[in-house]
Amino acid sequence: MNQAVLILIKPDGLKKSLTGNILTRLSETKLEIVAAKIVRVPRKLAEEHYKHLKDKPFFEEIVKYIQGELHDRKKVLALVYWGENAIKKCRELAGATNPEEAEATSIRGSYGRITTSGVYENVIHVSSDESEAKREIKLWFEPQDIIVELYPQKEVVCKECKRTVWA
Ligand code: CDP
Ligand code: MG
Repeated sequence: MNQAVLILIKPDGLKKSLTGNILTRLSETKLEIVAAKIVRVPRKLAEEHYKHLKDKPFFEEIVKYIQGELHDRKKVLALVYWGENAIKKCRELAGATNPEEAEATSIRGSYGRITTSGVYENVIHVSSDESEAKREIKLWFEPQDIIVELYPQKEVVCKECKRTVWA
């Protein structure tokens, strides 16, 4: 069964220059990259991304973390991988949420850490299931950012919209 999955290389992954290593690990899956972009994460996007964790004591910290407030790297690399069992394959490579519990050879086991304030800095986000993947991909990407039509889309005509173009 072909699936799409949202991957984020989190600010700690970028700060530690792990982008190449992580993408190399992910290439083991033989999945296809169908979208990729660098995103400066507004607070609203961070809160929406982690809305299922709103009641957790660490919510405020992970919102700051994904925004790059803890790493002086105010960006993430967002990618969509697509193919057979994409979610399971990527979650297995990523390893457990807690980097101390993640298998040593997994991405999080290799590169993650727990901060003194208790946040799991685990260098990568991977959608947890198909419905979360759909919700997250629609949150992070516009249809035109993705080279395949993952979900139903439509064209709208906007006459009065303001956008920046090359001068
Ligand atoms: O990212 P994953 O789906 O594995 O875990 P999650 O339960 O959706 O949590 C989202 C993120 O919150 C994790 O990746 C961790 O960075 C962070 N977290 C944490 O710092 N402490 C926890 N006890 C649980 C999650
Ligand atoms: Mg999750």
